[in-house]
Amino acid sequence: MIRQSRKLEHLKYSMLLDDGPAAAGFADFHLVHNCLPDLAWEDIEISTAVATIPLSQPIIINAITGGASDVTAINRMLAEFAHLTGTAMAVGSQYSAIETPSEAESYKVVRKLNPDGILFANLGAHASPEAAACAVEMIGAQAIQIHLNVGQEIIMSEGDRNFTGYLSKIEAIIKKVNVPVIVKEVGCGIAREQAQALANIGVSAIDVGGTGGTNFLAIEAARSQLTLDQEMLSWGIPTAISAVEVISSIGRDIDVIISGGVRTPLDVVKALAIGGKAAAFAGPILKVLSDKGLEGAVHWYHQCIIDLKRYMLLVGAGSINDLTTVPIVVTGFSREWLTSRGFNMTQIANRK
Ligand SMILES: Cc1cc2nc3c(=O)[nH]c(=O)nc-3n(C[C@H](O)[C@H](O)[C@H](O)COP(=O)(O)O)c2cc1C
Repeated sequence: MIRQSRKLEHLKYSMLLDDGPAAAGFADFHLVHNCLPDLAWEDIEISTAVATIPLSQPIIINAITGGASDVTAINRMLAEFAHLTGTAMAVGSQYSAIETPSEAESYKVVRKLNPDGILFANLGAHASPEAAACAVEMIGAQAIQIHLNVGQEIIMSEGDRNFTGYLSKIEAIIKKVNVPVIVKEVGCGIAREQAQALANIGVSAIDVGGTGGTNFLAIEAARSQLTLDQEMLSWGIPTAISAVEVISSIGRDIDVIISGGVRTPLDVVKALAIGGKAAAFAGPILKVLSDKGLEGAVHWYHQCIIDLKRYMLLVGAGSINDLTTVPIVVTGFSREWLTSRGFNMTQIANRK
């Protein structure tokens, strides 16, 4: 029961509260215009792949909700949106349906409405390997996301307080499930040290889930009527910075998804240029569906894809892979952070 009302409150406060206060960092990343792109519009190819799963486009609908019967309508709408746009979609944490099997219907509806779509299951890192296998089976998922949300849990009055042994728990899940395991943060980002540790246990992909978008510390504080100061609300690694940290350390071996405050087509292009195999949105999809309805949201999405291709043309990139060779000039706070962490900002600004 507690979990059910929590899901509704997450939806409510995610719509009411603004992003931030920390920025996702994309404003510090500048792509360089190419006045001789040597490409035709029809040449631009936006297909990609994450953990060997082919995606027709590099945008994913990230985990949002499920579990309570009163959020089934939202999951239904998200599934219809995914079906109409052809985007891959993650369901929200399935823990409630593992505990109370009658709640599984609010997740299964996503597969029913999108029988051939790409779906990701979702659970926390404390889940047992058996629960993970059950979550995959519940929706016929092609992969499972395991979320890390320490910041959120310690603000929640009913949240977890013991975060020991997560790496070995994730490793056991990897051994048990027969689909790729994607580890994701939910808004505090992933640093290169932890990305390396996750790579060492064999995760198939990492979603950086950085700071600057939907703020779960703020959402939990609002739910509990707690006041958190701006420093606490800004905690975490801004998404664009986390993306460089993770991709530079493990991006050659493991696919990286970039999420957390990805808000515009240009943010998506920058995320892909940094080296993400895809970018993911959560909050913006909820907001556009609520503001414009299903048809309006699909139109908005198609406009995003057109803009994505426009920017690709403007930097002379004919494919997602080509984007990883275009120069990026990094300025300001992100440059200072990354330089002090030993990354070579001159190299990325001059790559070919
Ligand atoms: C209402 C809501 C519920 C969410 N529930 C989950 C969840 O169950 N599991 C999860 O991994 N992430 C969950 N997230 C986090 C998102 O997947 C994403 O990591 C986060 O919102 C940052 O992306 P954004 O800035 O594009 O919203 C939720 C997000 C929202 C807005």
